[in-house]
Amino acid sequence: MKPLVGLVVGSDSDWPVMEKCAAKLKEFEIPFEAKILSAHRTPDTALAYAATAKSRGIRVLIGAAGGAAHLAGVLASKTDLPVLAVPMPSKYLQGIDSLLSMVQMPAGIPVATFAIGEAGAVNAALFAIEILALKDSAIAQRLAKFRSWQTEIVLAKTLPLP
Ligand code: RP5
Repeated sequence: MKPLVGLVVGSDSDWPVMEKCAAKLKEFEIPFEAKILSAHRTPDTALAYAATAKSRGIRVLIGAAGGAAHLAGVLASKTDLPVLAVPMPSKYLQGIDSLLSMVQMPAGIPVATFAIGEAGAVNAALFAIEILALKDSAIAQRLAKFRSWQTEIVLAKTLPLP
């Protein structure tokens, strides 16, 4: 099946976090492709990827990068597909650098920025799924099932009282 989501990481070092995103997409049976493309190390390929994504059937792009994390903005510059940005934890600034790089896009080219790290990775997948669910009732049903299951899990929990 043709991929509906393009998951792009700036480096293979981002994968231990972003595999959580991939796992969530798999759980929902969303066809996706995953690529390593860097805004600064492979700029021409990254731009070409974003420019051709829509015509290949991709509906949402997810860009994950760390440090001076301009990947999602660079992808967004070449497409009008929704671009979701996931800030990667970084060695010296713990991902605050990544978050601020992504979230402060100047007006005109939006990216939707998620939480730093694994929560952001999972939520970017769920957000992509929500976008796809708008036009796909099977995906919408899976999403509704997941949300009820999640609610039940929380309500079934008890606290260990002394
Ligand atoms: C960014 O630089 C990548 O997204 C990664 O988070 C960070 C470090 O990359 P490596 O030096 O580990 O390849 O471009």
